[in-house]
Amino acid sequence: MKKKKILISPSILAADFSMLGQEVTNVDNAGADWIHLDIMDGHFVPNLTIGPEVVANLRKCTKKLFDVHLMTKPVKNWIEPFAKAGADIITIHIEAEDNIKDSLRIIRDLGLKAGISIKPSTSENIIEPYLEYCDLILVMTVNPGFGGQKFMSSQLEKIKNIDKMIKDKGLNILIEVDGGINIETSKLCIKAGANVLVAGSAIFSFETSNYSNIVKSLRNEN
Ligand code: DX5
Ligand code: ZN
Repeated sequence: MKKKKILISPSILAADFSMLGQEVTNVDNAGADWIHLDIMDGHFVPNLTIGPEVVANLRKCTKKLFDVHLMTKPVKNWIEPFAKAGADIITIHIEAEDNIKDSLRIIRDLGLKAGISIKPSTSENIIEPYLEYCDLILVMTVNPGFGGQKFMSSQLEKIKNIDKMIKDKGLNILIEVDGGINIETSKLCIKAGANVLVAGSAIFSFETSNYSNIVKSLRNEN
């Protein structure tokens, strides 16, 4: 059987913010597939990160796909600004939005890929009615808000169930995992059905010269 392609999306939350543009270039050169941008509003999650202006400036540093993880409530106000800033994928939290179908449609109408994210405490069953309206499911393997947390292995079963749900419906949807992903936990997630891995501290807490080896190891290529 052909080995499926695993995509790596480094989360710049763990990068050196004094040289964010350079860090994006560094992971691009290291072979990252996407760039994961964590947008936190200090309300839906207890932390604040970056706005569309920063994303628009980072857009100049790479041609890689911008994977925008919106951790905001409300959701809708931020879709267009981040689309304009250069997002390729916008993922919204099911816990933050009352009209998921509408928001996913807005994202797709802007010509972007649409994702749904679920927190560790949220059951995967509630995403089933929305699967046909999205391109990606982001399974949080830590509570959203901060980098550097411990991977919650309780989420592996959820990844398996979502993988089955997608296959049963014959849909073409990526499963992305986010939080505590490192060389060891990446293997468990891939085995459970994940095909996109977000990694922050597992990449950026090392010297730049190691990025490329880490990206390969996360993909289980070496
Ligand atoms: C957490 C963010 C993650 C975070 C991952 O809310 O969504 O993307 O940056 O960081 P690590 O890989 O360090 O757990
Ligand atoms: Zn994230």
